[in-house]
Amino acid sequence: MLSKRVEAILNAQVEKEGYSSNLYLSMASWAETKGYSGMATWLYAQADEEKMHMLKLVGYINERGGHAIIPAFKQPPVEHGSVQEMFEAVLKHEKLVTKSINDIVALCEQEKDYTTHNWVQWFVTEQIEEEASANEILDKLNLTDGKNLYMFDRDIMSLRGKED
Ligand code: FEO
Repeated sequence: MLSKRVEAILNAQVEKEGYSSNLYLSMASWAETKGYSGMATWLYAQADEEKMHMLKLVGYINERGGHAIIPAFKQPPVEHGSVQEMFEAVLKHEKLVTKSINDIVALCEQEKDYTTHNWVQWFVTEQIEEEASANEILDKLNLTDGKNLYMFDRDIMSLRGKED
């Protein structure tokens, strides 16, 4: 059985993962309208992954005697100044998610909830991948100097190789 505090922080994470999914969906749509079909594919896949993260939390909360709440999500940004700015926003967002996962780990320790502590390690590992993946994209983008985005767009899906 989850304590009220652990249930609340896991429900807060449901909101964060669901928002992440919508954020990447919104970015995918923006990229698609700009003709960046490779980036759009990457971002749509990322949005699906985030939805899977949300569902993982929902399943766990309910399985452990809590009640997963599906909240309203705020509107993600519609426009991006550039591809670079958009992927910088991805990295910044993933760092925030990592911080919130670490807060869950810390609360589990306080509450002596070693079951959830163990369960949430999957997300700890996942966040290493998520940040590494965003960093790798930014490194590649820096190589383009904002030019030749055609090649970048064509090749971006190969950067997902190790995740899927
Ligand atoms: Fe589910 Fe990208 O954090």
